[in-house]
Amino acid sequence: MDRIVVRGGRRLEGEVRASGSKNATLALMAAALLTDRESVLRGVPRVRDVGTMMKILGALGVACEWDADDEHVLRIRAGRVSNPEAPYDLVRQMRASFLVLGPLVARLGTGRVSEPGGCAIGVRPVDQHLKGLEALGAKIRLDHGYVEASAATLTGARVAFDVSTVNGTQNVMMAAVLARGRTIIENAAREPEVAELAQVLCAMGAHVHGAGSDRIEIEGVESLGGVDHTVWGDRIEIGTLLAAGLVTRGDVTVRGADPGLLDATLEKLREAGGDVDVQGDAIRLRADAPPRGIKLVTAPYPGFPTDMQAQLMTALTLADGSSVVTETVFENRFMHVPELVRMGADIEVAGRAAHVRGVGGLSGAPVMATDLRASAGLILAGLAAEGETVVNRVYHIDRGYERIEDKLRRLGAEIRREEG
Ligand code: EPU
Repeated sequence: MDRIVVRGGRRLEGEVRASGSKNATLALMAAALLTDRESVLRGVPRVRDVGTMMKILGALGVACEWDADDEHVLRIRAGRVSNPEAPYDLVRQMRASFLVLGPLVARLGTGRVSEPGGCAIGVRPVDQHLKGLEALGAKIRLDHGYVEASAATLTGARVAFDVSTVNGTQNVMMAAVLARGRTIIENAAREPEVAELAQVLCAMGAHVHGAGSDRIEIEGVESLGGVDHTVWGDRIEIGTLLAAGLVTRGDVTVRGADPGLLDATLEKLREAGGDVDVQGDAIRLRADAPPRGIKLVTAPYPGFPTDMQAQLMTALTLADGSSVVTETVFENRFMHVPELVRMGADIEVAGRAAHVRGVGGLSGAPVMATDLRASAGLILAGLAAEGETVVNRVYHIDRGYERIEDKLRRLGAEIRREEG
């Protein structure tokens, strides 16, 4: 298994370009199932989760290939979907595989996807996805660990989610675009990945209004056409690279951003001591003193993203003062804490809150990545720490960051991947 080795203490300086959003891409790939025409996605990040979604589409009998001339262009053509089943072996590797259920029922009248189960960051049920599909008239059956949804025709309906769910909103949206009549989704997730999916569905011929707000209206259509879309910059990768600037008291510029989608992240980076400037699609963060202690509460968009919590917490371990970090989205997303403590951080967890007392410095250590964003936090800790940090189980980070070590090296970090 690969490891990332970081020698800390370098001040990061310079400019890098963001990759396309991993989470947006996964939903857009599922949306390609809704049409027999070609969908072209540009700026797709070369990360493991995208590879897993390609395998899922392949298992469904769908052609999905990288463009021969551009390694970030993905071509998907679901001319025929020969198999309605997404197998356990793939779904267990990535919960977002569940996103194919809505499109499968809409396109084929039936879909069978392995029940994804819990994961390291929490129980993560799919009850809201199923509630939405049921409201549109799908019959749901749970059978030998699989969820089967079927409907001769889907009919538009009112769906009121009990919790704000990103993939749940996307799944139901994708089913509703081919349903008969009007669907109204209340308490819809407002994340940019929902708005981007709606933009793409509209470009394919769907009628979707209000995405990005908590009420989405969809008027079903008979069929959808192909699309050619460039994926928006990954707001979490951008936030992570800026946080790397903060922990190393550096001067980091990330291009390829839509800064308006990072408001909550930029506000907290500023509050924590970063001097943040926005110019066009570039965001620059400068810091020349230790971070400042702050209060941080994760929340659905437009709140502070749970996917940035570990990275900001890492910065706060080095703050002048104390911080309280409260995780409200997932129940078990503090797995980076024991590893940060092994590096010298002073953190106590009480329920959903982590109390962080800033320390003067961290010391390099071998650490274990447990999930994608926790791993990013540990790499940032390594950049700031004295001595060498070895982050094991790097496959977690490869799920969602495209060659993060190359981007950080370009900014001046002493970082390398050891294969093995
Ligand atoms: N929830 C339910 N029932 C459901 C669905 C969700 O109770 O049917 C709960 C979850 O257990 C959680 C909360 O609702 O407590 C929010 O979960 P949500 O459904 O919004 O998460 P998701 O759609 O499964 C996406 C991202 C995550 C990101 C969350 C929150 C993708 C592929 N994943 O997950 O990204 O943390 O939204 O913003 O879009 C990551 O990239 O590292 C990652 C985990």
